[in-house]
Amino acid sequence: MTHYARFAGFYDQIMGDRSADIERIRDYIKRYRPAASSLLELGCGTGAVLAGLVADLSVTGVDRSEEMLAVAARSVPAARLVHADVTSFSLGTRFDVVICVFDTLNHLPSLEAWRAMFERVHEHLADDGLFFFDVNTTGRLRRLWQGPAFAADFGQNTMIMDVLPGVRGESGVGELSMWTVRIFERIADDMFRLHQERIPELGVPLATIRDALAASFDLLEEAELDGGPVSDESGRVFFAYRRRQP
Ligand SMILES: C[S@@+](CC[C@H](N)C(=O)[O-])C[C@H]1O[C@@H](n2cnc3c(N)ncnc32)[C@H](O)[C@@H]1O
Repeated sequence: MTHYARFAGFYDQIMGDRSADIERIRDYIKRYRPAASSLLELGCGTGAVLAGLVADLSVTGVDRSEEMLAVAARSVPAARLVHADVTSFSLGTRFDVVICVFDTLNHLPSLEAWRAMFERVHEHLADDGLFFFDVNTTGRLRRLWQGPAFAADFGQNTMIMDVLPGVRGESGVGELSMWTVRIFERIADDMFRLHQERIPELGVPLATIRDALAASFDLLEEAELDGGPVSDESGRVFFAYRRRQP
């Protein structure tokens, strides 16, 4: 069973309002690719972000979870949805904008996989196209190891999320963290059904990410979630790159 199979039916309710993420993407497109007409999201999940972009753009999403894509097909019927791995797909077409958001890149367990995805992005971007993505930094992931588990009620259900150190990254680069997500679905007054997911995330130093992109993309902008300084100790970091001509 691939990751997110048990999470899919609860994902949108747990993640809540995504309008801030959507506004941020709109803003980057307005500044760096204002005439964009097409957008590809890598790791589109339930289509929560695509749903906020589909009114203005022709949108395509790639994801390897059939369960997440089934939700996306219902919530964004106009999107083209493709069941594939983001490191090894070929759509035979190019897009004005490619995005990969909400720590999806961290889900790739080795630097080789990150590099393979960057190559797929380059193949699928129009000349001078915009590549926008975010990452959880190594510092943020380590801070999550130290903090307590996070618990929240949503609807009638309850979720507990905990992040612990995982084993070393497959390639020896970066650090793996393991997110354990436990969803207690209320099925009667005092009865709950447990849905558990264990999702690994790789933290990669920002300098390594920049090096991996340097040959094929030009950096437009880096930003931190709350507008603070960008470093390996920041929270979520956003990157905007422009595709360089080969
Ligand atoms: C944290 S969710 C983000 C979903 C969506 N981008 C959002 O903002 O709500 C990560 C998604 O990436 C997908 N994913 C992880 N690794 C993948 C891979 N190698 N190929 C394709 N999809 C992948 C998962 O199935 C999941 O739907």
